[in-house]
Amino acid sequence: MFLAVLSSRIAASLVSSINEMQKPRRAAALENCRKWNQIKEGQTMHSPPDIFAPHFTDDPYRHFDVLREEFPVSYSEQAGGYFISRHSDVRQVLHDKTFTARPLQSRVELVTQGPVLAQIEGREHSAKRKIVVRSFTEPSLSRYHVGVIERNIEGLLGPLLKQESIDVVRDFGRKLSIYVMLDILGLPRSDFKQINEWCAGISKYSFSLDSSLETRAKAISCGRALNNYLTPVVQKRQNHPEGDLISDWCASEAGDKRMATDAIRVLCVNALVAAVEPTDKTLGLLMRHLIENPEQQDAVRSDRRLLAAAVAETLRCTPPVQIIPRQSERDTTFGTGHFVPAGSTIYCLLAAANRDPRVFTHPERFDIFRSDLGKDRSFAGAAEHFAFGSGRHFCAGAAFARAEIEMAANSLFDATINWRYAQGFRYGEDGIYTRGPKSLLLAFDRV
Ligand code: HEM
Repeated sequence: MFLAVLSSRIAASLVSSINEMQKPRRAAALENCRKWNQIKEGQTMHSPPDIFAPHFTDDPYRHFDVLREEFPVSYSEQAGGYFISRHSDVRQVLHDKTFTARPLQSRVELVTQGPVLAQIEGREHSAKRKIVVRSFTEPSLSRYHVGVIERNIEGLLGPLLKQESIDVVRDFGRKLSIYVMLDILGLPRSDFKQINEWCAGISKYSFSLDSSLETRAKAISCGRALNNYLTPVVQKRQNHPEGDLISDWCASEAGDKRMATDAIRVLCVNALVAAVEPTDKTLGLLMRHLIENPEQQDAVRSDRRLLAAAVAETLRCTPPVQIIPRQSERDTTFGTGHFVPAGSTIYCLLAAANRDPRVFTHPERFDIFRSDLGKDRSFAGAAEHFAFGSGRHFCAGAAFARAEIEMAANSLFDATINWRYAQGFRYGEDGIYTRGPKSLLLAFDRV
C-alpha cells in the first residue's frame, strides 16, 4: 500500500515536471497558432490548424508544433482521415502490419492500371520488392548506375555552367533524374519530353490530397498514355532481351515464376514516378539549406565526406515526401490516448515527426553536425528520420537517390564557388503531400 502511494506520488511528480519542461514548447506552439489563426491572447486553440488553408500550405512548418503538441491525432473532414504528427505514432503506424497501404490503391491503381509496390502487402510485395531493391542497390549501383549518373551529370552541367545562373531544380535535378531512369530502363532519351509530362500528370494526382475532377482526369490520361507506351516495349524485351533493367526484370522471377507483361510495366511506371518526383526537390532543398547556412556550406566544400550528412539533414528537416497514407485495419488507441476506429485512413505527417523535439534537439535548426541524426543509418531502414518512410515499405531507391544527389552536388561544388540566389529570385516551396521548390536559381562564380 505504502509502495503504491509512493509510486503514484513519484508518477504524479514526474508528470508535473514533464509538464513543466514542456511549457515553453507549448507556449511557443500556441503563440504560433495565435499568430496564424488569429487566436487572441488568453484563448486556447479548440480546433487543429486547417491543413488545406492557404496559410498552412504557404508554410506548414509553422503549424507542425501546434499539431504535434495540441492535436497529435486530428481528424480532417476534407481529407477524410486522421493526421498524425508525433514521431512515436508515425513509427507505430509504419511498422505495424495492421496499418495497410490500402488508401494508395484507389488513387494510384486508377492511374497505373496495376498495383505499384507501395500499395501491395504480403508475399507479393516481398517478392517484387526483392527484385526492385536488388536493381537499385549494390552491386548494381556501382557496377551500372554510377557511370550512367556520371555521364548524365557531365552532359547536363557542361552547357548550364556557361550560363550566369542555373535552375537547379528544373534544368538540372529534374532532367537528371528522368534521363538517368530512361537510360537505366533502356528507353529512348528522345522521349524525355512526353515521359516528363506523363510523370508530372500522374504525380500531381497520386501524390496529393487534391481530388479535383480535372487533376484526376489528367492523371488518368497520362497514366493511359504511359501504359500504352510501355506495354510494347516490355513485350519486345520479353522476346528480345537487351542489356537494360526492363530486360533484367523480364528474366527475373517473383516468387517462383516470371512476371507478366503488365506487372513489369507497372514496375517501370513505379520506378519512373517514384524516382523523379522527390529527387529534383531534394537537390533544390539541399542547395537552399547550403546557401542559407554558408558556414555549413564551407564545411562541406572543404570536407566532402560531410555531404552525406548534409543530404540526410536536408531530408530530415525538409522531407520532399511529407505524407504517407495508411489504413487502420483494427481499432487503435495511440499512446496519447486518441482513438481511431478500424477502417480509417491515417495520414502520417513525416515532416512534423521529423521535427519532433522528443527525438531531435532544436529540430527546426538545419545542422549537419547534429548528433541525433544517426548519420550512418540515415539512408537505411533504421534511419531516425522518416523521409524515406520506415518499415516494410521503406524506400527501395534510398541508396540510389543518395548516390545521385551526392554526385550532382559534388559536381556543382567542383565547378563553382560563391553560391547565392540569382538576383531577383525569391525562394519558395510548394505542396503539402510532396513539397519542395519548383525552381531554384543558383548564381555562382566558376572555379
Ligand atoms: C530523395 C529521394 C527519395 C525520397 C525522399 C523517397 C521517398 C520515399 C518514401 C517516403 C517511400 C515510402 C512510401 C510508403 O511507405 O508508402 C518510398 C517508397 C519507394 N520508393 Fe522512394 N524516395 C526517393 C527516391 C527514390 C528513387 C530514386 C527510387 C527508384 C530508383 C525510389 C523508389 C521507391 C519505391 C519502389 C518505393 C516503394 C517501396 C515499397 O513499397 O516497398 N525512390 N520512397
